[in-house]
Amino acid sequence: MDKRPIGIFDSGLGGLTCIAPIAKALPGERILYFGDTARTPYGSKSRETVCEFALQIADFLVKNDVKMLAIACNTISATAIPLLQESYPEIPVVGIIEPAAAEVAASCSAGNSIGIIATKVTVKTKAYERAIKKHDPSLSVYQMACPAFVPLIEENIIESDIMDSLIRYYLDDFISYHRIDTLVLGCTHYPLIKENILRLYPKLRIINPSDALASAVERSLRENELLSDDTPKESTFFASDISENFIQMVDRIITETDYNIAIRKF
Ligand code: DGL
Repeated sequence: MDKRPIGIFDSGLGGLTCIAPIAKALPGERILYFGDTARTPYGSKSRETVCEFALQIADFLVKNDVKMLAIACNTISATAIPLLQESYPEIPVVGIIEPAAAEVAASCSAGNSIGIIATKVTVKTKAYERAIKKHDPSLSVYQMACPAFVPLIEENIIESDIMDSLIRYYLDDFISYHRIDTLVLGCTHYPLIKENILRLYPKLRIINPSDALASAVERSLRENELLSDDTPKESTFFASDISENFIQMVDRIITETDYNIAIRKF
């Protein structure tokens, strides 16, 4: 049994959408979360900048004695996994894209048309397409970058006509042209607009990769004999800039255990 916390991070508050499934799958684990709210969005930055920021955060979490790194960010998972694995060989580093791709491949067949919506960086790397096709080359995968979603979500502009128009702007032609029937939320901020998407396209099947990340985290802890079945003490949610929206989101998500919110600037 290893009582050290799990380190989970994202460019902002999007990664918080992965906390509930992880906490549900692993109730004995303490969490150290970091959201880089001062520097979000990452998805329109260069690959080099994303890698540099990811290393700074990982370093901070590792210095705080985490027993693994779970990357609740597709943009970082698409760019920085090899770098993080090389930099911290003593702990497991688990990204969100590989487990999500395995789930997509297992639940789709050649008759499906799979759409991936993600940040510009994630789309540019084609990480989802490659990972899904590695499992099943017969699958049809199409990608769409939606860079304006994250700033609006970080501002909590969700239940609004502006958000619905933006969803239509990105998805109307994409869905109809490729006859998309399965949509993968390839950015951890997007589960926060899942209901808007479903309202606009009720026939779509939506895959939220946060469950696949939770299963991968659980598997990795088990395989590495790092599980804890302790009653977790307080989890801590760090942000590089603490906004009201960040505090509200944490409060909404963490209902079962105690937690702290703390600022950490770079
Ligand atoms: N939530 C992140 C992701 O899953 C990145 C959003 C951003 O900072 O652009 O890709």
